[in-house]
Amino acid sequence: MTDQPPAQYAGPKRVLSGVQPSGDLHLGNYLGALVKFAKLQHETPTLIFVADMHAITVWQDPKKLKTQVREIAAAYLATGLDPKIATIFPQSAVPEHAELAWVLNCVARLGWLDRMTQFKDKAGKHKERESVGLYTYPVLQAADILAYKATHVPVGDDQKQHLELTRDIAQKFNNDFDAAGFFPLPEALTQGPGARVMSLRDGSAKMSKSDPSDNSRINLTDDADAIASKIRKAKTDPEPLPETMEALAERPEAKNLVAIYAALAGRPEAEVLGEFAGQGFGAFKPKLADLAVSVMGPIGGEMRRLLADPAEIDRILGDGAARAREIAAPTMAEVKRLVGYWAG
Ligand code: TYM
Repeated sequence: MTDQPPAQYAGPKRVLSGVQPSGDLHLGNYLGALVKFAKLQHETPTLIFVADMHAITVWQDPKKLKTQVREIAAAYLATGLDPKIATIFPQSAVPEHAELAWVLNCVARLGWLDRMTQFKDKAGKHKERESVGLYTYPVLQAADILAYKATHVPVGDDQKQHLELTRDIAQKFNNDFDAAGFFPLPEALTQGPGARVMSLRDGSAKMSKSDPSDNSRINLTDDADAIASKIRKAKTDPEPLPETMEALAERPEAKNLVAIYAALAGRPEAEVLGEFAGQGFGAFKPKLADLAVSVMGPIGGEMRRLLADPAEIDRILGDGAARAREIAAPTMAEVKRLVGYWAG
């Protein structure tokens, strides 16, 4: 993290991120996002929310949504977020997200949203059948971030474009409303070998909740046997591991497994290759499986323990929402004044 706050913005450093409650969390979510949340909370004031408003951009069963929110909250806690240090809350419990999103919808340009690759990927060929919410999803994401004037946003690589859009929106708001330095231009924190974890079945596809093959991902709730079996079955090639990452450029599956090992061990990829160079996957996979089981195994157990007491999770989320509102409400009041709302 850079020590200097982004250009012109003189406010404090603040970390914010969120995860959608729209399916089982996997190793990609863990290494790309959750593991960073737990670390950053000790360095900078940190807000982490459950993005239930984003989740409903595609159909969610109303009978299950609250449970899904609690599951993400349990994952946050099980991976080390401490509600006494970090502010953990459901997005829908803080109305300022929606209020600010409307204003930012009027700042963002259609051409900017038309360039969003994630919408194109999700909508495929039938975009006219998707919800309008799915299209404006990145504007709500900008509102999530800017409502708290967050300066640093830990996310996986796939969110970089949404963060660039957030910066463009913040900049245009500051210009349009003659409010230089009002919003920070937030920075995506994507560094590290876990920023883009690929499918275990196809090294050219991102590990994803929506992949039909469960063997393509390690879920946070998988037990030790499932984790080991998925790594055993992971696609690889017959060559031994080389000495440098450059030599893995044309071997996406091998590259992915080395990156996963490095991220799980908290070590640089080069160091991992230094240890395993010359060895084949028959030797590497069992070591990776042991490491993955030792890191991931306890998380699923802890999530199940936490979920046995939903009232306690709700208490944590309610408390977090109240603290979050204390930050978002003054921002929104100022936005209303700047925009010239009658209610400003
Ligand atoms: P979501 O729920 O799709 O993903 C949650 C986080 O996991 C990261 N991620 C990955 N990282 C590495 N490798 C992968 N294969 C992988 N798959 C997912 C994502 O980059 C993300 O960090 N739009 C966000 C949710 C959101 C948000 C925000 C984030 C809504 N508002 C404001 C930050 C700030 C998302 O896609 O979440």
